[in-house]
Amino acid sequence: MGFQYRVALAFILIQSLIMSTLSVPTLQLDTAQAVLELPSRHGPAGLPVANATRSFWIDTPGANPLAKEGSQGELTSDADVCIIGSGITGVSAAYHLAKHFEGREDGGTPVKVVILEARDFCSGATGRNGGHLTPSVFLDFVNRELAYGPDEARKTYALENYTASELINIIEAESLQRAVDFVASSHLSLLVTERELNFAKADFAAAQAAGLDLDHIEWVSGKDMSETYGTSFPASRYPGHNLWPLKLVAELYKIALKTAPSKFSLKLHTNTPVTSITSASSTSRRWSLSTPRGAIQCSYVIHATNGYSSHLLPHLQGPVGIVPTRGQVLALRSASPLSEVTTASWGGNEGFEYWFPRPVESGKEENPLIILGGGREASGPNFEYYVTDDSVVQKTVGKVLRDFLPGVFPGKYEKGREPEMEWTGIMGFTKIGDPFVGPVVKSSELDTREFEGQFIAAGYSGHGMTRAYACAEAVAGMVAAKLTGTKWETPEWLPRHYLTTERP
Ligand SMILES: Cc1cc2nc3c(=O)[nH]c(=O)nc-3n(C[C@H](O)[C@H](O)[C@H](O)COP(=O)(O)OP(=O)(O)OC[C@H]3O[C@@H](n4cnc5c(N)ncnc54)[C@H](O)[C@@H]3O)c2cc1C
Ligand SMILES: *[C@@H]1O[C@H](CO)[C@@H](O)[C@H](O)[C@H]1NC(C)=O
Ligand SMILES: *[C@@H]1O[C@H](CO)[C@@H](O)[C@H](O)[C@H]1NC(C)=O
Repeated sequence: MGFQYRVALAFILIQSLIMSTLSVPTLQLDTAQAVLELPSRHGPAGLPVANATRSFWIDTPGANPLAKEGSQGELTSDADVCIIGSGITGVSAAYHLAKHFEGREDGGTPVKVVILEARDFCSGATGRNGGHLTPSVFLDFVNRELAYGPDEARKTYALENYTASELINIIEAESLQRAVDFVASSHLSLLVTERELNFAKADFAAAQAAGLDLDHIEWVSGKDMSETYGTSFPASRYPGHNLWPLKLVAELYKIALKTAPSKFSLKLHTNTPVTSITSASSTSRRWSLSTPRGAIQCSYVIHATNGYSSHLLPHLQGPVGIVPTRGQVLALRSASPLSEVTTASWGGNEGFEYWFPRPVESGKEENPLIILGGGREASGPNFEYYVTDDSVVQKTVGKVLRDFLPGVFPGKYEKGREPEMEWTGIMGFTKIGDPFVGPVVKSSELDTREFEGQFIAAGYSGHGMTRAYACAEAVAGMVAAKLTGTKWETPEWLPRHYLTTERP
């Protein structure tokens, strides 16, 4: 047998050995979208449940020193700005307000900002998510261009690039790489069906024609994927990052606290759910927020409650608003070392599944922990829409997630291995996939008086790590402009259709 022939035969053997299979159904995105748009019989979202599942990010010992901050003693009774929610949106809003007032010359009393959190610090989606900080680079371009034109479509990617770049700048400037377990690597987006591959190619071509910078994107064939990564699915590869989201948010909070203490005061009250908002007729403040610990009066309110938004804003219930949607994640010990698994992060199957290996401490022999989320498309006909109970995991989702990696990487993951942790978290989905950013308005009329002084940034549709910080900056900018009597200018990276006043 000639050498070349033997090499070819060996290659065919390898090829036939590596045939990835999937434990989840494919091509479910269109159905999921159709179900999302159905009229709803569910009322507004409930409050976050008290006894949530334990997540790796929140419940690893020592991970959340701010968990119970401000939960005891007297509740602050008055503030200029009340932020509801202590996830990445709420804390980013506080951070941006602090930065805004840092540069102010005038003395006077500092601006008072209070964050109110129903449960422990950062115990919503941000404390329960997949840990990816990877901007979208071209996927979905065709749809966005069709809906909003090339300029708006381009901005949706610009906002994500801006968010990730700014967060990375902060991490680098404050030397937080280790504190937040920041990893910069590649992201592989697996294209698991012919149809998904064709759509991705069409998105790429359209994005290129519209002038997006696509220099960092590579296409990797199934054959090359088999050789390099041990999966037979083709992929697109681009820069990706992952980190410990809760720790990043805690660092942003600490920066906000120390930024300009003489001009900006910040207080956090965890375990303090806001149960209603009414006008505060008797004080100089506009709004009165009720909590089981008493009321707090505020001139401005920022809703940073994401999947729970419709609890306090019932007009945002149903598909015209923000649909709470439960996601599930496993922390699973890999059967092979990081050198084999590689530091790359992954997504695939129209974005339903996503995973990455946690960094391994140098000198430690342990195999990495894989953080793997998804499986919602296998949960049944309702895709976990309108589910706000994150105190339990979904059995079928748990099963398909356990079988997922052994199927995608034949021979590389141990079948039947149990995860070390498994949890759920509540996302906020919108019909258009993009968040609500700006003054609270009712969709029918653009009359802002009913909610004067109330703002929102919410509804990231499962993709908030690369958007929330920027959306919070926009909303904080609007509030700061009101407080200082200046005019807010739309940042060049903000898609206009994100704005509550300009949504389609
Ligand atoms: C399982 C899962 C995986 C995900 N994976 C990724 C990923 O890998 N990459 C990515 O980009 N995005 C991911 N996301 C989405 C991302 O986590 C969210 O978009 C983002 O964290 C939203 O941040 P937020 O601050 O707006 O909301 P949250 O983090 O949910 O914060 C809202 C907070 O408001 C509090 N709250 C609600 N109602 C009230 C009330 N009435 N009074 C007081 N407090 C209240 C909640 O307790 C909560 O802490 C994932 C989400 C989930 C659930
Ligand atoms: C943002 O885009 C620029 C230009 O394409 C790129 O060089 C950079 O890596 C991107 N930043 C992030 C964080 O993805
Ligand atoms: C969560 O708490 C509720 C009431 O406090 C209780 O009925 C329910 O069983 C709890 N769920 C779990 C999973 O412990």
